[in-house]
Amino acid sequence: MTIKVAIAGDHGGFALKTQIQNDYKGSDVEWIDLGTNSEESVDYPDYGYKLADFVASGQADFGVAICGSGIGISMALNRHPEIRAAVCANTTMARLTRIDNNANVLCLGARTTGSLVALDCVHTFLTTDFEAGGRHERRVGKLNKAIERA
Ligand code: RB5
Repeated sequence: MTIKVAIAGDHGGFALKTQIQNDYKGSDVEWIDLGTNSEESVDYPDYGYKLADFVASGQADFGVAICGSGIGISMALNRHPEIRAAVCANTTMARLTRIDNNANVLCLGARTTGSLVALDCVHTFLTTDFEAGGRHERRVGKLNKAIERA
């Protein structure tokens, strides 16, 4: 089954964004590239907001976001009420944020995480299911409630 994954990042993430898509050539992952498309300096919030709207609207099943540290773009993404974006620096984080948090966007730091580890994080994130129906679902529900209260 093909899954649709939107991918976006700033100039710091451009090379890794290209590498990830190349690594998946001929696979059942359909990438939707929302830019940026060069190493010319841009602002990560612009790409975080664009990706957040795209994933939240259901046009993609998941998102992958990249900036220098992964942190700035995750902050932008998490301002959207329907986005749960997680910065991951290893595969355990990528696995647990799917199982525990039902994260819908994986954030990577191109300047802080090696590219092979980053690729492994993408693979783990996209192949791990949320553990629905129990305590994790209750907790994720509380994240949504906190936004309603704000
Ligand atoms: C861009 O130079 C850098 O600030 C950005 O990619 C990111 O690391 C911010 O969180």
